[in-house]
Amino acid sequence: MRQEVLRLENVCKRFGGIVVADNISLSLHAGDVLGLIGPNGAGKSTLFNLISGLFRPDTGRIYLEGQLLTGPLHRRARAGVARTWQHMRLFRTMTVLENMLVGPREYPGESMLRSMADTGSLRRAEAAARNRAMHVLERMGLAHTAGTIVVDLPFGQQKLIGVARALMNDGRCLLLDEPMAGVEGSNYETMQRIVRDEAAAGRAVCVVEHNVSFIKDLCTEAVFMSYGRILQRGSVDDLTQSRELTELYFGAADA
Ligand SMILES: Nc1ncnc2c1ncn2[C@@H]1O[C@H](COP(=O)(O)OP(=O)(O)OP(=O)(O)O)[C@@H](O)[C@H]1O
Ligand SMILES: [Mg+2]
Repeated sequence: MRQEVLRLENVCKRFGGIVVADNISLSLHAGDVLGLIGPNGAGKSTLFNLISGLFRPDTGRIYLEGQLLTGPLHRRARAGVARTWQHMRLFRTMTVLENMLVGPREYPGESMLRSMADTGSLRRAEAAARNRAMHVLERMGLAHTAGTIVVDLPFGQQKLIGVARALMNDGRCLLLDEPMAGVEGSNYETMQRIVRDEAAAGRAVCVVEHNVSFIKDLCTEAVFMSYGRILQRGSVDDLTQSRELTELYFGAADA
């Protein structure tokens, strides 16, 4: 049986009077590419923020590989939650490589004393992070951009760099928030290939996306969210052919 990677149990979150996560229970297994769809404001990014530790649930629990996930973003990143951001959050005036080297998962230099006492292990960790970064960029056909300032890259390549930075974290859970928005042509194909390869390598991938054809191409299953609730989990065809869900989606999107 495939290993369960991520498990949400009855997760609830309110902002003031608005319920943004309404008793969410969800499970993801190694090799899954689960689509997360729903209208604007449904709570999709919020769910990623709850998993990755930007927000703390009011109630409910989240487990990664059977371990309760707690603490802030960096702690959950270290536990193995890799994510991208809807609005990229790249350091736009730094180079691509510098962006990749901000906060890899394994870095021994956190204690000043330790890093002074053991410069060898710090140097080795830096070299390993650099190698990993170049390897990820090569997989994306973007090794030549390593020294480029992010803001000088076309938008589609910046989106790929956002994913590349997330891949510096080799944890089992990968959350992608609208990776395809503004991405076309060869960058689109690269994004598809990377997501497929990450799942094939045993990650559990969850993709928030308004691009339904991307979801159709990649995901065996999807979840439809609206007003903080999961309304349905099923095959992408079932969800996209549901009249009720389509009305909710486009009704809200047109509003
Ligand atoms: N930090 C916050 N404080 C207050 N309300 C918030 C906060 N973050 C999100 N919300 C609210 O939570 C709801 C869900 O927002 P969220 O960003 O998760 O939607 P989404 O499904 O990702 O939408 P989109 O498709 O537009 O990205 C919205 O009503 C939003 O205004
Ligand atoms: Mg969002």
